[in-house]
Amino acid sequence: QEDLRATLLEINKLAASYFYYQLKNPQGELGYKYLRDRELSDDTIVRFGLGYSNKTSDDLYRFLKGKGYDDAILKQTGLVTIEERGTYDKFWNRVMFPIMDVNNRVIGFGGRVMGTGEPKYLNSPETKLFDKSRNLYGLNYARLSREKYILICEGYMDVIAMHQAGFTNAVASLGTAFTLQHAQLLKRYTDKVILTYDSDGAGIKAALRAIPILKEVGMSIRVLNMQPYKDPDDFIKNLGADAFQERIKEARNSFLYEIDVLKKDYKMDDPEQKTAFYNQVAKKLLEFPEALERENYLEAVSREFFINYEDLKRLVNRLGASL
Ligand code: CTP
Ligand code: MN
Ligand code: MN
Ligand code: MN
Ligand code: MN
Repeated sequence: QEDLRATLLEINKLAASYFYYQLKNPQGELGYKYLRDRELSDDTIVRFGLGYSNKTSDDLYRFLKGKGYDDAILKQTGLVTIEERGTYDKFWNRVMFPIMDVNNRVIGFGGRVMGTGEPKYLNSPETKLFDKSRNLYGLNYARLSREKYILICEGYMDVIAMHQAGFTNAVASLGTAFTLQHAQLLKRYTDKVILTYDSDGAGIKAALRAIPILKEVGMSIRVLNMQPYKDPDDFIKNLGADAFQERIKEARNSFLYEIDVLKKDYKMDDPEQKTAFYNQVAKKLLEFPEALERENYLEAVSREFFINYEDLKRLVNRLGASL
């Protein structure tokens, strides 16, 4: 079993360097150009080991065969499909992002279409090595950062853009929701995180789902305001690293963020909806079992959302008593 893992790691490493060298070939020029157009430097390309999978349908398969690996093992890498009809590389004409574990071992790949096309990202299937819910992209570098907190974002390009801009403490959960295992993994390195998910509906949902999971392992959580840009890559490209640093400083307490989001569902000029909102806020405040902590949030919420402190306190106590 350990032998199998070691062999799969060896093959992934070979594949990563194969993709990387394709960038330098004439047929890889498009891939290289794509990455440069997205403002990635040569240093960044090397640091993240980015590459290109060409348009030939089975060149990676033949390359790996040539290194002496048999079909049975190649199948288990998720890099090739071996059928009676023929053998195909999984990744075709995409820029390649090797996914490394905390020990810098390549455990899988993501591949992006250059331009538009579906799917935008293709990821390695789960293999003996690759468990999406237990690995975070960029953590191999982020764990070495001197910052006391880790930035959590959605995607490959966000991690890379942040690292390139000097925020080497950024990680992403890839093509999957943030899990308890992710939170436990992060907790080994930090007890503070800042969520930097996309500003769209999917990103807000992802943040709301991640917050209770991160709370479960006792993280201090803040949420960065990305407006008016859609993700960290987009923000940094437009406003630069200093502006991003400002947003980090201003990042909102996750509880207040949750209430910001909640508030959007209510029309405050309608007394019925306003009352319903206050009830929801009071109910949320009951999430804090500790009297002192609840009191601090009660104060903050009444201040931030212009709710009369005494009235809110009474509401919280009444709801609490009826539970
Ligand atoms: N993702 C995926 N499969 C898709 C779309 C997205 O696995 N078909 C994952 C990728 O890890 C991607 C992340 O979800 O990086 C976030 O998706 P999205 O915001 O759509 O992409 P971006 O990271 O912004 O990618 P880009 O900037 O290259 O468009
Ligand atoms: Mn190919
Ligand atoms: Mn997104
Ligand atoms: Mn993006
Ligand atoms: Mn995005």
